[in-house]
Amino acid sequence: MKRKVWDYDSLCAAVRPYLKERRYVHTLGCCEMALALAERWGCDRQDVMEAALVHDITKKLSDEEQLQLCAKYGIINKYGKDELGNLIHAETAAALAADLFGMPPHVVRAVASHTLGNEDMTLLDKIVYLSDAIEKGRDYPGVEDLRRLAFEDLDRAVCMSIRSTLRNIEEKGGIPNERSLLALQGIERALYEQENIMNENNRTQAVDLTPEQLMQEIVKIADSRKAKDLRALHVTEQTTLADYLVIMTGTSTTHLRALADEIEYQMKEKFGIYPHHVEGVSSTWTLLDYTSVVVNVFMEESRETYDLERKWGDGLPVDLSALLTAE
Ligand SMILES: [Fe+2]
Ligand SMILES: [Fe+2]
Repeated sequence: MKRKVWDYDSLCAAVRPYLKERRYVHTLGCCEMALALAERWGCDRQDVMEAALVHDITKKLSDEEQLQLCAKYGIINKYGKDELGNLIHAETAAALAADLFGMPPHVVRAVASHTLGNEDMTLLDKIVYLSDAIEKGRDYPGVEDLRRLAFEDLDRAVCMSIRSTLRNIEEKGGIPNERSLLALQGIERALYEQENIMNENNRTQAVDLTPEQLMQEIVKIADSRKAKDLRALHVTEQTTLADYLVIMTGTSTTHLRALADEIEYQMKEKFGIYPHHVEGVSSTWTLLDYTSVVVNVFMEESRETYDLERKWGDGLPVDLSALLTAE
């Protein structure tokens, strides 16, 4: 089928009968966000508009109807009954996007990837995936951080969104979908390679900060992103591994991720300083090792469980009152 180049109003009218009212509002929100991200990151507006407007057109179908579409379009259903409707609709919507709406393969692929991602996500795939998660109607802890990050660093925002989805699934006792894991690995690999190149280029330009200044800068960044219960301990006497331990709490897994990402990002941008390593110790504890300063970002229950403050109780608490502004 030859590509039909849709205009916004005609496509809205064409998809409207497929969607319940609430889903239609979400679809328009998704399209608005996708167009804003397309503007920011230089993606084709026609492609994002088409993909966003059709991405959920089979969402209201029953499992039986989904399976009928699978049979019609040769889609292999790999999902269990519990997750069928939630996951297969991306693929059945993609089939309709191609067959009924005449959309080209790269747009169809973005529709098919909007729920789980794919191993090698294009700019269009990432924008549609993320817009679905952060359009203005979405409201969940951390969504504001994700919206901001989407305009600052698209790849990190996609990673953060996939990670938070995977963690939610884990927390509910489910098994993370392999396609999402592959999507995450694909983007993280690309980021890692980019960073290695940047590291090589920037290493000599790093600003020299004393351990105390480094600790203070990290505290200020964390405070600006509303870290809770920020504390720093001076541990030079207790260990040769670090001079300062910084500990803070995030209010959600997304907030935790946002704090760790922001510290890493700003330390690189402002000072050319990279962590020696970053470790997701668990889904509720992330550690950034800046050699002389080790930063621990916890969820509240994890902070209590590991109780680093007690373990490092001999360390000297640093008075941070002059650095903290958040309530
Ligand atoms: Fe969807
Ligand atoms: Fe959606």
